[in-house]
This record gives sequence, C-alpha cells and structure tokens, in this order.
Amino acid sequence: MDYLKVTGRKNLKGSVKISGAKNAALPLLASTILSKNKINISNLPNVVDINTLLKLLGMLGSTYEKQDDILIIDSTTINQTKATYDIVKTMRASILVLGPLLARFGHCEVSLPGGCAIGQRPVDLHLKALEQMGALIEIKNGYIRATTKGPLLGTKIIFDKVTVTGTENIVMAAALAKGETTIINAAKEPEVVNLCEVLRDAGVQIDGIGTNELKIIGSNQELLDFQDFRIIPDRIEAGTYLCAGAITNSILKVENVIHSHLDAVLGKFEEMGYMIQKDDNSITILPANKILPVHIVTTEYPGFPTDMQAQFMAIATMAEGTSIIDEKLFENRFMHVAELVRMGADIALNGTVASITGTPKELLGTDVMATDLRASSALVLAGLVASGETNIHRIYHLDRGYDRLEVKLAELGAIICREKEGL
Ligand code: EPZ
Repeated sequence: MDYLKVTGRKNLKGSVKISGAKNAALPLLASTILSKNKINISNLPNVVDINTLLKLLGMLGSTYEKQDDILIIDSTTINQTKATYDIVKTMRASILVLGPLLARFGHCEVSLPGGCAIGQRPVDLHLKALEQMGALIEIKNGYIRATTKGPLLGTKIIFDKVTVTGTENIVMAAALAKGETTIINAAKEPEVVNLCEVLRDAGVQIDGIGTNELKIIGSNQELLDFQDFRIIPDRIEAGTYLCAGAITNSILKVENVIHSHLDAVLGKFEEMGYMIQKDDNSITILPANKILPVHIVTTEYPGFPTDMQAQFMAIATMAEGTSIIDEKLFENRFMHVAELVRMGADIALNGTVASITGTPKELLGTDVMATDLRASSALVLAGLVASGETNIHRIYHLDRGYDRLEVKLAELGAIICREKEGL
C-alpha cells in the first residue's frame, strides 16, 4: 500500500488543470447501456472509480478503449446482467447500472452496495421508485434481483429525500420506459444535469433539466441514438485545489472550471476573508489578510456541498476564531476529525455539528489515516500547513477520486511524494 509524505509550511504558486467530474462520468458511463451505438466520451477523469465501473461494464459485455482522456465505448455488446459483489463492494456507485440494465433487458441482479465510512447509504429510494415503475424487486443473499414483464412504465415518482444517484438511476430507467415519468424532489446537481443533457441529445424528451421536477418521455425500450459527449469539469476537485491555495494562503489558479458550479463554495472562501478572481474558465484564490471563522451547513446543490465539508474543516483549523460545520447529509462524515485532532486541531463534535477553534493552535505533522475519499484530501491539506512531516496512510481512498493529487500539488510547489508502506 502507498502513503503520502508531506512536509508542511510551504507556500504554493501556479495553476492546475481540472479534470472531468468523477460523479458525472459514473452515471454517464452507466447510461451507455441505453445506447444503440458506439460513443466517444471526452474529458474522462483518470481515477480508480472510473476504471472500476469500466471493469464492471466490461464484465457485462461492453467493449471500450481509452486514448488519454478519450473513451470509445460500445455497450450494445452487453450480454449479461449480473453485477457481482466482488466489484460492487469496491464502489457503491455500481448501483447506477441497475436502472439502465433493468430498463433495457427487463431483468438484472446487482449486489447490494455495502455501507461505507461516511454512512449506511441505503438504496431504498432507488428500489421503491423502480417498483412504482412496475419492477419486481427481490433482495436475496445480498443481491437485488429486479425483473419487469415488458417495459418499465412511466409514472409519478416523489423522492422522500433528494438523492443524486437515485435521481440518476430513475432518469435512465425512465428514458427507456413506456410513457411519461415525472420525478418530484429530483436532485439538480450539475452531474445530474450533464446526464439529462446527454440523454436529451440522444433523443429523449426531458423537461425541467436543472430543476427539482423532471418529466421524461420514455422510448418504450427503443435503444437511444447517443451523440458523442464531454464530461463536465469536476467542481469538487477544483474546490479541493482552491482549498490548498487557501490553507497555505497562496495565490493559486484552477483552470477548466465552470464558475456557477462553485458559487456556494466561493461564497464561503470570501466569508473567510479570501479574495476570488474569475476569468473565462478559471478561478484564482488570493490570500486572506486574516483567515476568518466560518459557519457551514451542508445541503443539496446549489447549497454548500457535503463533498467539500472535510476540506473546509482543514482550513478552519487556521482561522482566527471558532468555525461551525453542520453535516446534514451523511450521518458519519466526520471521520477526519479524529485525525485532525491528532495533528493538534481543536475540534469538538456534538452530533452532526463540529466546532473548530483555529489559531493560535498550530498543526503538527504526524502519521494519520485516510478513511474516505474527501477525508483523505482534508488530511493532505492539513499536512500542507502542519509543521514537520505528515504521513497520510491508506490513500487508496484518495486515488478513487483524485488523479495524481500529489503530483499536481508538487508542481504547485508542495513538498509531497508517494511512498511505499514498509520500505
Ligand atoms: C452522491 O452520492 C455522490 N456520489 C456523493 O459523492 C455525494 O456526497 C452525494 O451524492 C451527496 O451529494 C456519486 O455521485 C457517485 P445521495 P449518493 O443518494 O447518490 C440518503 C464523493 O465523495 N439516501 O444523494 O449515494 C443517503 O443516505 C461521493 O464523490 C437514502 O436514504 O448520495 C444520504 O443521507 C461521496 N436512500 C442522502 O440520502 C436512498 O435510496 C443523500 O444521498 C438514497 C439516498
């Protein structure tokens, strides 16, 4: 296993090109199951989760080849519909093949994704919606067995909670259903919009894109004529690098971004005293005279994203005063707190609310352990400002969603490298 060694208290400088969004690419790769033709996908991020889903699609019978960030994929060759535990256990977003497989073939078996570090993360809303569309769902031996007699049937779905992959699963299922599906309380993250726009360009009539009410007219199991498409930039990767600039109080630019996807995040940087400059498709963060404490409540898009919570907690350890972070989406998304406390941070937890008292407390480098994707990036950020060396272990979590984070940070001037455990 690898770990990252970071020597702190170094300023950063320069710019970094942001990759395609992992959380847009995952549903879009699953949607190729609905296509009648081969598709060229550009701006595909080179991260472990994408390679995992490609492996799953390959096991189902898709054929593909990657040339840099271009993927040519043909899922018309899919010839089996069982997503097995060994691959689903490594990535819960594999659940995204459920809707398209069921809509196209009328049957599929998908291993129940286990929970993960940040919470139990059930898929009950996905399954309830598919049942409302006429699916017969059986849970047996850890597998979801779904069948339909004929096409799924369009209907009115009201999600009790906003669910990103739940919305994406049902949008894909509805695209091949018979009749109209209305989704009330739909997620409207940019990644959901990217999926809807690609399906619309494939000939599906979708109204309400970008809102929390979607109307989809299905093709009645007619495969779709997909056009080549591009993955949107990764707003969470961009936000994470801006946090690296913020925590080291450096001037740092992120390129290939869509400003509006980061409005809530940029607003919190400004609340903390940082300056933000926006150019055509880049954002620059400038140092704060004084890093001010912040109050964050995570919520669905366009509110402050839960995927940026851990990174801002790391910055809050440098603020002059006490910051409050309330994690409303996941019941256990504070795994990074214990590790930051080991580095000397002053953080008190009370249920879903964290109080972080910043300077004059200093962070001290030590060995820490990553527990989930975004927590890992928060520990790297803390290592950038801690005095001495910080070793971040179990960074396989990090590699799931960031492409060579340490290489890009080193190019910005950080003293960071990847080492092998036990050498
Ligand atoms: C997506 O997860 C993202 N993953 C997550 O990013 C992100 O944190 C999350 O949305 C929230 O924005 C992908 O897009 C692949 P949800 P998802 O369904 O869809 C509850 C990262 O770091 N819920 O929107 O799994 C659930 O427990 C990852 O890149 C149900 O109760 O999240 C949670 O409390 C981490 N039943 C809330 O809804 C369901 O059937 C929101 O979950 C589904 C969800």
